[in-house]
Amino acid sequence: MVEAAILTDGESAAAGLRAEVSGAVLTLTLDRPERRNAMTGRTWRTLAHVGQSLPASVRIVVIKGAGPSFSSGIDLDMFSPEGVEGEPPLMGRLTGGPEDGAALDADIADYQQGFLWLRRPDIVSIAAVRGHAIGAGFQLALSCDIRVLADDARFCMKEPALGLVPDLTGTKPLVDIVGVNRAIELCLTARTVSAREARELRLAELVVDGADLDGAVDDLVAALLAVPAEAAAATKELLQQAAGSGLAEQAERERRAQIGRLTALARAAAG
Ligand code: ACO
Repeated sequence: MVEAAILTDGESAAAGLRAEVSGAVLTLTLDRPERRNAMTGRTWRTLAHVGQSLPASVRIVVIKGAGPSFSSGIDLDMFSPEGVEGEPPLMGRLTGGPEDGAALDADIADYQQGFLWLRRPDIVSIAAVRGHAIGAGFQLALSCDIRVLADDARFCMKEPALGLVPDLTGTKPLVDIVGVNRAIELCLTARTVSAREARELRLAELVVDGADLDGAVDDLVAALLAVPAEAAAATKELLQQAAGSGLAEQAERERRAQIGRLTALARAAAG
């Protein structure tokens, strides 16, 4: 049962995005199936707004696509001289002055905010992917903590083939997961990765039959919610810090986090 609306119907329609909160779970549905859930700047600004408006009760964010695809990536109309309604065009606005680059930098930074919050320690983000996740769609899945794939899922980092770079925060998780050499091979060939290969490359935590995708995500959500929220958040933060830390530094962080947990548990026990 949907309990709260984060977006108005007008905002949802303009962004091609539905946001439904039910208890501790926010489900975000990319909802332009007739365009294979192509996303615009408005989609990413709205995603950022959702992150900023997240009710404190939400612990899990599930992102999925309506119809046969997760997302066909950026709406290719964004590259037309007119751009898309409500967004400054990406092409044809650069006349060479330094102020042009600054404005574009600000727009892309706003778009990136739609992806960055999915790493927040107090939530677990799950991408439930069926069909294609191309370009920005792949980067959105990469921004999530856990990827659950239907067996027909397909990843592709298409940007270099279009003369672009991936700029929606996907390069770091990609390299963290597959390593720089495989990331170079995947991006610079812009080839398609099947669900099976995605699992081998650790780009998928779980691959299931298409008919079982929703059930597998529900089971995962239930298991995640069975762990106390504060312990989950503190552990996610520790795990995120581990990759960039030395052993001694990380061991010290573990001690600090554990003291925080034990203090909270002792206070709760004392009533
Ligand atoms: N932007 C705008 N419209 C799109 C996009 C897109 N990214 N992707 C698909 N559509 C439209 C198609 O033009 C088509 O419209 P029409 O019905 O008016 O002809 C409709 O969605 C359905 O697309 P099909 O190609 O018929 O669907 P199919 O399931 O056969 O293929 C696929 C899906 C693989 C996603 C294909 O549409 C595709 O390759 N799309 C382009 C992907 C792309 O290059 N994205 C940009 C990546 S770079 C980045 O994201 C930064």
